[in-house]
Amino acid sequence: MRRVITFGTFDLFHIGHLNIIERAKAKGDYLIVGVSSDQLNYSKKQKYPVCPEDSRSRIISALQVVDEVFFEESLELKSEYIKKYKVDVLVMGDDWKGRFDEFESICEVVYLDRTPSISTTEIIEIIKK
Ligand code: CTP
Repeated sequence: MRRVITFGTFDLFHIGHLNIIERAKAKGDYLIVGVSSDQLNYSKKQKYPVCPEDSRSRIISALQVVDEVFFEESLELKSEYIKKYKVDVLVMGDDWKGRFDEFESICEVVYLDRTPSISTTEIIEIIKK
């Protein structure tokens, strides 16, 4: 069984999120999603996501293609998560291209094209206007 992992905040869940999650699952048989915790988002961006972590992780857990969800508590723990969940493939959107190459010694690393013209940031901007 090929085990796949992907990470993200998945705030204000949108079609770009669904596309990458479905395409990540297609890379293997078992999909694990690391949903970044509220605290991790705050430490990266000095603001909390619109939807709290329990809501974001429940939405991801409810997807048919998702087999397991956990909270990503720290960016420094990626290799620990990859080992803990016995991951074969790490999938990320190509906005992260090259930034996870260091994990190629422990698993396959795949970057997928982002879905054009949508992001959580853009949704927030549109609603604000
Ligand atoms: N993603 C994607 N296509 C999009 C938006 C996101 O493939 N249009 C992917 C990202 O590359 C990442 C995952 O979805 O692998 C989670 O991204 P996240 O940062 O949570 O979503 P964004 O919409 O990019 O949020 P933000 O605008 O806050 O960066």
